[in-house]
Amino acid sequence: MKLVETLKEDKMSRAVAINGSPRRQHGDTAMLLAPLMQGMIDAGCDVELSYAVDLKVKSCNCANMYCWYKKPGNCCLKDDMNLLYPRLWDADILILATPVYIPLPGEMQNIINRLCPLLEPLLETRGGRTRARFRKDVKIRKILLVSTGGWWEKGNFETVVTIARELAEDASVEFAGAVIRPHAFLMKQKGKLTSEGEIVVEATRRAGEELVQNGAISQETLDTISRPLIPESELRGVYNRLIPQQ
Ligand SMILES: Cc1cc2nc3c(=O)[nH]c(=O)nc-3n(C[C@H](O)[C@H](O)[C@H](O)COP(=O)(O)O)c2cc1C
Repeated sequence: MKLVETLKEDKMSRAVAINGSPRRQHGDTAMLLAPLMQGMIDAGCDVELSYAVDLKVKSCNCANMYCWYKKPGNCCLKDDMNLLYPRLWDADILILATPVYIPLPGEMQNIINRLCPLLEPLLETRGGRTRARFRKDVKIRKILLVSTGGWWEKGNFETVVTIARELAEDASVEFAGAVIRPHAFLMKQKGKLTSEGEIVVEATRRAGEELVQNGAISQETLDTISRPLIPESELRGVYNRLIPQQ
């Protein structure tokens, strides 16, 4: 099984994307991540993609912060994080792409926990919060969140956005924002993108381009990506009709 796909090489900036959806390239998260990555590639960025479920990553369990206080920068666990670490070390942008799973799929959470060796074990207080920094040899300067959910409202993403933002702030890098798509499954009907779905996909491609070209994604683009596709009551009806009748 191919764990990492290199999509384009020999470009000026590099990004590593981790897709946490168990549905891999067939899922809603991939429906957003693929055009985003394409936009980044078109703008001249190298992008590498890994699916969290294809990586065998154990949960962080040494319980004594080995990677900080025993052997800084090294994790004592031996598994597929060793494939990911060198790529992360060398990336300018980290993209965490995930469905909302109250809050995260387990594989994605394991990977986030296992980022600890990338951090310098020196604590500082900034804005009243205890923070660290990425190690000097870690290039990551931005962390971007891409997330899809099934429910109607954007508020449903708050926990996942907080996790990604806290990670960026703990590591003292820029949180490059949250590309979020509520009720993402409605972008398709009978397996084909709807006209609204196409607008969202195009805006997501533009988001990737803007991130690389301008260093940031415009609010207008983010709003287009996350705009409502149907009224809330209608979506609730779609779900509630799925309940098996007794
Ligand atoms: C275990 C589980 C928990 C979920 N929890 C939420 C949730 O809290 N909020 C939400 O909006 N969607 C929730 N969903 C729906 C998924 O986030 C949504 O369908 C997403 O678009 C799936 O993306 P994927 O196809 O890339 O896996 C949940 C789905 C599963 C399977």
